[in-house]
Amino acid sequence: MARERTLAIVKPDAVKRNLIGEVIRRIEQSGLQVAAARFLQLSRADAEGFYAVHKERPFFASLVGYMCSGPVMVMALEGDDAIKRWRDLMGATDPAKAAPGTIRKDLGQSVEANATHGSDAPETAAVEIAYFFRTIEVVARG
Ligand code: CMP
Repeated sequence: MARERTLAIVKPDAVKRNLIGEVIRRIEQSGLQVAAARFLQLSRADAEGFYAVHKERPFFASLVGYMCSGPVMVMALEGDDAIKRWRDLMGATDPAKAAPGTIRKDLGQSVEANATHGSDAPETAAVEIAYFFRTIEVVARG
């Protein structure tokens, strides 16, 4: 099993409902570790750049508006098989289809306001972590 890092975002809907601590509690309880963290308000350009792979999708404009609607908590997580483990903890993109006990099932409100984001592969994790953090800001936990 590979030691990995992945990007996690606590999205505006969850931050507004004071769920940052609940998300981090679930992360730490699962054995994953926080390797970097920033609390910030994304600009429209920040959100457009982060979600650039989705720019042709019909939901892109709405997604960008939503991601700028309030502050977000951005973290790099570290652990064995961290990318899959964080995706499993989050559950399916659509909270209505997410498995019981997952973050999106328990805390998500809609496909857009689905509480958290996670990287989907090692290549995207590296790009997404570098989007928010300088190398020196990501602290090895292993
Ligand atoms: P996320 O994992 O952050 O990646 C892209 C986001 O687009 C996704 O979570 C959803 O919050 C959002 N989104 C909005 N509408 C859709 C849709 N129809 N299909 C997939 N993702 C969507």
